[in-house]
This record gives sequence, C-alpha cells and structure tokens, in this order.
Amino acid sequence: MSSRVVVCSGCCCGRVEKGHSEVPVDALKDAWEKNNLKNSVELTISGCLGPCKMHNVCVLMTENNQIWLGELRENAHFEALVKWACDISKNRPEVKIPEILLTHQFNHKPLDIYKVIQ
Ligand code: FES
Repeated sequence: MSSRVVVCSGCCCGRVEKGHSEVPVDALKDAWEKNNLKNSVELTISGCLGPCKMHNVCVLMTENNQIWLGELRENAHFEALVKWACDISKNRPEVKIPEILLTHQFNHKPLDIYKVIQ
C-alpha cells in the first residue's frame, strides 16, 4: 500500500471549541469501510501536522508525491478526499485531485509519515 490520506485532527484542526470547522472523522472512517478502501489506501487520523493556521489540514500521499491541502471546511471537501482515495485505489495513473480541492493546495515541507503513525 503506497497511498495514504492523512487527516489532521490535532490541537487546531477540527476544534470547534476554537471556532474551527469540524473534521468528520467518523464519516471518513465509514466511507473508507463502505468503499472498501482499507487494503488499498490508508486513512490516518493524525495529531498536529504543523501548519495549524491552514486548518483543517490534510495530506494526500502517493509513492512519489505529497499534496498538502488546507482550509477544508465543507463536507464536500472531505467527500472529495474519499473520491480521490477511490480513484487512486483503482491504480489509475491519471488521477488528479478533485477540482473542489485545487485551490486548497499549499506548499509545506515533506511530511515524515513515520513520525505521524508512531
Ligand atoms: S492541528 Fe492540524 S496542523 Fe496543527
């Protein structure tokens, strides 16, 4: 398995008590189950990834690439993450990130996934 979606649910992302939008962790887990993604695309709900000011943050990881996404505030944003995972699970080389997420990309230093999943 070389693809992964890392969704931050740390000190800021998803913290509604801080006035931030919710991260629909349970809905994402349900979607992974429903779409049978568990064996092809890892879903990681992480602690703080660093760029808190971009809340809510996510990283789409493939073997050779990482795409940082921020300001995910609508259900449609998270549904688009599921769509990307479904597409990438079918080993489609032409998979692009869904259009609704294009303006949410930002640059950040590469994520060391081993620090996140330990
Ligand atoms: S809490 Fe998500 S980047 Fe810090």
